[in-house]
Amino acid sequence: MGDLNQSDKELIAEASEALKNAYAPYSKFRVGAAVKTDGGTVYRGCNVENSSYGLTNCAERTAIFKAVSDGEREFDSLAIVVESADGLGTPCGSCRQVLSEFNLSMDVIMANTAGEAEKMSAAELLPKSFAAEQLDQEKINPK
Ligand code: THU
Repeated sequence: MGDLNQSDKELIAEASEALKNAYAPYSKFRVGAAVKTDGGTVYRGCNVENSSYGLTNCAERTAIFKAVSDGEREFDSLAIVVESADGLGTPCGSCRQVLSEFNLSMDVIMANTAGEAEKMSAAELLPKSFAAEQLDQEKINPK
């Protein structure tokens, strides 16, 4: 767990703005996220639910997918804010895997609308993540 710096606090503010756009008519649980690239660009995301519940996209993945589809791949930090005064916005397992794909050292700032926050790295949040090296054909099919 690390101390928050000014950049982290700004990213929480961006994620809080994104939370306002959450489409969560089923769970009524609004989540916002904001990811900052190494170049300093910020992409926001919110959760987007569906009447077919399993199609829901989490706020973190919305933010990352928006950034990647704009050509970004180098991420410095990501903030998550949940509309709650009881508990922080901790990323779900699927989102942890998606964050780990791009940067195991990425700072993940978990926060809530009551002003509580905590910071950990993507690697701390998902030890032993599945990684591209495991898809090495030599390892799958040794000659
Ligand atoms: N949700 C997120 O957006 N991020 C997470 O890491 C956890 C869960 C959303 C998905 C769904 O719309 C709602 O929270 C309740 O699960």
